[in-house]
Amino acid sequence: MVNSFEIRLPDDWHLHVRDGATMKDVVGHTGSQFGRAIIMPNLKPPVTDAQGALQYKQRIQHALVGQPAFEPLMTLYLTDRTTPEMILEAHAKGAAYAAKLYPAGATTNSDSGVTNIAAMDDVFAALADTGMLLLLHGEVTDSAIDIFDREAAFLETILPAIIRRHPTLRIVFEHITTEMAVDFVEAAAPNVGATITAHHLLANRNHMLAGGIRPHFYCLPILKRDSDRIALLRAATSRNPKFFLGTDSAPHAIEDKESACGCAGSYTAAQAMALYATAFEEADALSNLEAFASLHGPEFYGLPINTDRLVIERKAQIIPDRYTFGPSAVRPFFAGTSLQWTTHRA
Ligand code: DOR
Ligand code: ZN
Repeated sequence: MVNSFEIRLPDDWHLHVRDGATMKDVVGHTGSQFGRAIIMPNLKPPVTDAQGALQYKQRIQHALVGQPAFEPLMTLYLTDRTTPEMILEAHAKGAAYAAKLYPAGATTNSDSGVTNIAAMDDVFAALADTGMLLLLHGEVTDSAIDIFDREAAFLETILPAIIRRHPTLRIVFEHITTEMAVDFVEAAAPNVGATITAHHLLANRNHMLAGGIRPHFYCLPILKRDSDRIALLRAATSRNPKFFLGTDSAPHAIEDKESACGCAGSYTAAQAMALYATAFEEADALSNLEAFASLHGPEFYGLPINTDRLVIERKAQIIPDRYTFGPSAVRPFFAGTSLQWTTHRA
């Protein structure tokens, strides 16, 4: 039995750190385990241009002072008003690595998202020309489509056309949740990859709904069947370079989650690598964790692998009940449960 091992320092290719007074309470959790993180732009108002991304980056760096640091990699939030020139400017200023497409209304702070994806061709072409990536929240928002089928509907009706029309564009299908998405990404060209969260590797919809409603398991795309979870675990542990780590750690104040209309998002940043190690051990694949967490993402983004290292030890930890989150608190995913793994930077 493996009791301790080291890997190259991982990166988190999908992270929400929010803004303002709460940000300093979460960024150190990511810095304690990750070298870089792709920062989601779904603030209120969203980060839509080069200047906004550069300013947000500065605020993150300020919040990191005195804490374990990571490098924030910024993204632009696409709206119906995004122009190709805005993409070119962001690229020229080194302000963003990628652009994030939220179908309007898909999730937290996505109201300004894109209403007509077919009208985005010029923007996607600018991304391809600059070498920036397109990050997709891959769900349709049609209220007639069942919430458990929204990722599948996106795969059937939207993604193939984007790939066909932009064959050189690097596309990340974010936080995939279904066996169908795994099959799709495996069969797609090498410029199509996917991130996988720790919570989708560890939980299914029964965790959220059987025996009582558990709001800290409510995230989007919503948790699916255990057969889907098993397919995600197979993909993550497969050493296929299309699949890499993105926590989608998404802090919300406890009162916004434990509510009659609770927000979507699971907070996994503080124990992220211990959670992934737990999932990989279930698949008897700890030896493939480094590829998924530390090698495939940089390869897909065309960035160097981190030189620092992370130690992963078999040492039990109980996930705390809460962390300070500005004036309130955030309850971590799996709060109160015991994990068999602990991590620290070497
Ligand atoms: O669960 C989620 N939370 N999914 C998302 O797509 C957004 C995120 C958030 O920002 O809270
Ligand atoms: Zn997200």
